[in-house]
Amino acid sequence: MCGIIGYIGERPACEVIVRGLKRLEYRGYDSAGIVTEENGELFIRKGAGRIDELTGKLGFLEMPGKRGIGHTRWATHGVPNDINAHPQRDCTGKIALVHNGIIENFAEIKEELLSKGHRFESDTDTEVIAHLIEEELKSSESFEEAMRRALLRLKGSFALGIIYTGEPDRLYFVRNESPLVLGIGDGENFAASDVPAFLEYTNRAIFLDDREYAVVTKDSYVVKNLDTGETVEKPIHEIEWTLEMAEKAGFPHFMLKEIYEQPRAIRDAIHGNADVIRTVAEEIAKYEKIFIVAMGTSYHAGLVGKYLFQRLAKRVPVVEDASEFRYEFDDLVDEDSLVIAITQSGETADTLAAMKLAKRKGAKVLAIVNVVGSMATRIADLTLYTHAGPEIGVAATKTYTTQLTVLTMLAIELARVLGTADESYLNALEEGLNAIPELVESVLKHDESLRELAESLVDRRDFFYIGRGISVPTALEGALKLKEISYIHAEGLSAGELKHGPLALLEDGVPVVAIAPSGRTFDKMVGNMEESRARGAFVISLGDRGELKRLSDVLIEMPETDELLTPILYAVPLQLIAYHLAVLRGNDPDKPRNLAKSVTVE
Ligand code: AGP
Repeated sequence: MCGIIGYIGERPACEVIVRGLKRLEYRGYDSAGIVTEENGELFIRKGAGRIDELTGKLGFLEMPGKRGIGHTRWATHGVPNDINAHPQRDCTGKIALVHNGIIENFAEIKEELLSKGHRFESDTDTEVIAHLIEEELKSSESFEEAMRRALLRLKGSFALGIIYTGEPDRLYFVRNESPLVLGIGDGENFAASDVPAFLEYTNRAIFLDDREYAVVTKDSYVVKNLDTGETVEKPIHEIEWTLEMAEKAGFPHFMLKEIYEQPRAIRDAIHGNADVIRTVAEEIAKYEKIFIVAMGTSYHAGLVGKYLFQRLAKRVPVVEDASEFRYEFDDLVDEDSLVIAITQSGETADTLAAMKLAKRKGAKVLAIVNVVGSMATRIADLTLYTHAGPEIGVAATKTYTTQLTVLTMLAIELARVLGTADESYLNALEEGLNAIPELVESVLKHDESLRELAESLVDRRDFFYIGRGISVPTALEGALKLKEISYIHAEGLSAGELKHGPLALLEDGVPVVAIAPSGRTFDKMVGNMEESRARGAFVISLGDRGELKRLSDVLIEMPETDELLTPILYAVPLQLIAYHLAVLRGNDPDKPRNLAKSVTVE
């Protein structure tokens, strides 16, 4: 996730852009840059670091011109450094652009452009777009035509801001699967990834839809369909948010915003890994001995990974809490081992220590990480990114479901490489995964009823979360979310374990959250729900089968999907229950007591 802000009008563009970038910093903050134009010349200043620091160091506020575009970056391709920061430009230096998203087919386009003599400065996927437009311009009648022709070749997600010296009065903005909004002013216009970037100047906004672009001058704008080139009529929305509300895109907390971002985040995780997953799967197929190390929510993702690897690739990984792995496995890990480290921050002390141990012992280390350029990516031999964008709330939400997405892709591809599962089943599973963002959207519609449910449970002191098979980690994760932000005691366990002790704790009204999707163990779950109800428990079930109604006090109806994909989908209502309980109990879910986003000490 990155932030884009563009301005054209009568003010010094750099001032508007720097203020906008500050408001977009939550979308990414590893590097930033600005391009402005005056008298047919482009001025570009960019570098790695935070906006405030760069503003002083690079003199952002001294840049000339009344039109320009800025960018704050959350790296996806290419480490965060001065060269990879946006804007990126073409060989002639006449076209500059900024990008939010991932170009899946950039490698093949880059190769083609290299063979035509283009020279690249950066490692980014973004730079190919500038060169591709430059290339298309040679045989196009207008810049707009060249831009359209180039963009039609791109696969992936992209929001773009584009400036061209040949057309001194305009800017171009494009949206495909990454957000972009126009801000309509009086004798000036704006565009940004998000409304807060321009809200202090105008509250009149036009939300571009996917595959639309806008041609914006200081006094006009026109929105067109990227595929047909035809003009699209767009309504102007009057935004009623305050600035503070707008930074959270109207959500009261970052956590809720991040929960709602999951459809987009999962899509980006799929797109962002589509090209690399095969190579990684081929590499890890060489290892029979697999360890997965992680902490907290990432550890739960690892447990889901274990079920996926077992079922699909017939490999049985050992999943270990990284703080234990360091001391218990040092003589078991060796050069025949693969260690998969899962960490959103890439900075968790115990996980890093486990990775270093694995490296010392000669093991191959694969990291699944959200933060590009973090320590974990520097230690690992191979890295897969989750592409969730920055997560500000301490509770992991979108980073968890994107970790699960990447693990699912990896298990599917590993099964292909090893020939351990039927190809038609793997294809169907892949299709199912592609449909998950839409299903998550439908699950988010339960939000209000989950809030009402939370209201009825606000005074309960203990919760139990139960599941079987691949739903056991979902139960653990549901309980962890509840504990960390609502401060209610919760236990997650395998439903089979109930009778072996915890059942003694069930009495009238104790909530038992049963994760009960269709699948191998559904019938057994029915038995566990019956035994819980018989002890007076208040059973809340999550599932896709009608008979759950009879067995539950509350049924959260879930869409049907393959059992192996349910951990992604079922995490969402559990996050919402925890969120609402936290808020109803007067807690700040973004900053739970005693906890930090990255645990950088042991
Ligand atoms: C989960 O909501 C927590 N924030 C925590 O358990 C977290 O998952 C854990 O600290 C691991 O962090 P990491 O993924 O950054 O390594």
